[in-house]
Amino acid sequence: MNETTRNATLTIDGESYDLPIFSPSVGPDVIDIRKLYATTGHFTYDPGFTSTASCDSAITYIDGNKGELLYRGYPIDQLAEKSNYLETCYLLLHGELPNKEQYEDFSHHVTHHTMLHEQMAYFLRGFRRDAHPMSIVCGMTAALSAFYHDSTDINDAHQREVATIRMIAKMPTIAAWAFNYHTGRPFVYPDNKLTYAENFLRMCFAVPAEEYVVDPILARAMDRILVLHADHEQNASTSTVRLAGSSQANPFACIAAGIASLWGPAHGGANQACLEMLKEIGSVDRIPEFVARAKDKEDPFRLMGFGHRVYKNFDPRAKVMKESADEVLELLGVENNPILQVAKELERVALEDPYFVEKKLYPNVDFYSGVILEAMGFPTSMFTPIFAVGRTVGWISQWKEMMDDPQGKIGRPRQLYIGDTFRDYKDIEKR
Ligand code: SDX
Repeated sequence: MNETTRNATLTIDGESYDLPIFSPSVGPDVIDIRKLYATTGHFTYDPGFTSTASCDSAITYIDGNKGELLYRGYPIDQLAEKSNYLETCYLLLHGELPNKEQYEDFSHHVTHHTMLHEQMAYFLRGFRRDAHPMSIVCGMTAALSAFYHDSTDINDAHQREVATIRMIAKMPTIAAWAFNYHTGRPFVYPDNKLTYAENFLRMCFAVPAEEYVVDPILARAMDRILVLHADHEQNASTSTVRLAGSSQANPFACIAAGIASLWGPAHGGANQACLEMLKEIGSVDRIPEFVARAKDKEDPFRLMGFGHRVYKNFDPRAKVMKESADEVLELLGVENNPILQVAKELERVALEDPYFVEKKLYPNVDFYSGVILEAMGFPTSMFTPIFAVGRTVGWISQWKEMMDDPQGKIGRPRQLYIGDTFRDYKDIEKR
């Protein structure tokens, strides 16, 4: 952290305290409260961390008001247009776009780590066939620490590097095998001749009985979906990975913790919940009924795919996703897909409704991704596993950044205690 000469002054009961103010390369200044409790005997109070920076990071920057998302300074729309997922992985991990040799070396390493230990196929078969794919992805990721024990020593930089490559390389195989198993089809092994997105689509949809040819437009759309989901600063699942990593848990256990957090419908599970909502709405004439429910404080229903803790403008990822949706649906001849019609009309209605305008609730990354994935033939239960495939590089990059910080310490928040104060035990006869 850079030095500072600026301070905030806090006055409590007539006593003043100076708190250093630090400035970022871009975004809000921060007030350093690390010594607050020691000097004032007070905690800060910020459930949900709406005003709290939990770390310093150089990986991803979001400007919620401008609707801007930068990966290591590069805007997401340019990366989605000109880059690809593996190149974006290199950028997030190493901080710079790779040159040709670096890219080829990185791609070779990832491509040649896509296989899973064969014993993991037996581990996976222990799940019920109707297990939600996210339960399989979460369980299999945690189990990697049992099968790849030689890359779990977090104090060994080489083992951290091997675990990083293994995580990025094996997550598509784990997610595809969860899909194969869930749908009663044989496991499809990786094909090293294919690109990352082509390989994932083939493992998801190929059957031994016939050759599977990947459509380049679908492969491009899948690669773009993975780029758009790659990282998003300190969201709930990334914060979970960092907190797990702060206890020095092994990298596979930390990523499994992130997957568990992503599963929630308020976070990564929103793409599945959004499509299920669009299907429940069913036709444009039922949209007013659902918009009214979303506005009703007495009704817990929220419009899935709308709103964001940080974005108070269009989620830049939703804009790119919307373009992909149009391309994929036109390719598949389903541009008149009733779900997409409901999605487009719901977006129009919501963006004009004063409730959503005042609260700055815009479509987020999950709003259109589900429409694309359904058009590609994925069941809604596979939407969040695909989000996890894309986000794995973000999780592991943020974990790596934290582990490379020699000042790192275990994360241990405090609380505002509102329970009973000291009282003596009462024998049961006296209760
Ligand atoms: C992701 O953090 C990340 O970066 C996440 C993510 C990533 O890439 O990692 O971007 C991925 O998780 C995207 C979000 C996916 N979730 C959904 O689409 C679920 C629906 N959205 C909501 O659950 C909600 O918008 C959240 C959880 C996303 C944000 O919740 P907040 O922080 O509580 O929202 P807010 O404080 O901005 O809400 C302001 C108001 C509140 O009403 P009031 O208390 O002021 O009266 O807007 C209301 C909220 O109740 N509101 C909604 C709403 N979202 C917020 N009302 C109706 N429908 C919605 N979708």
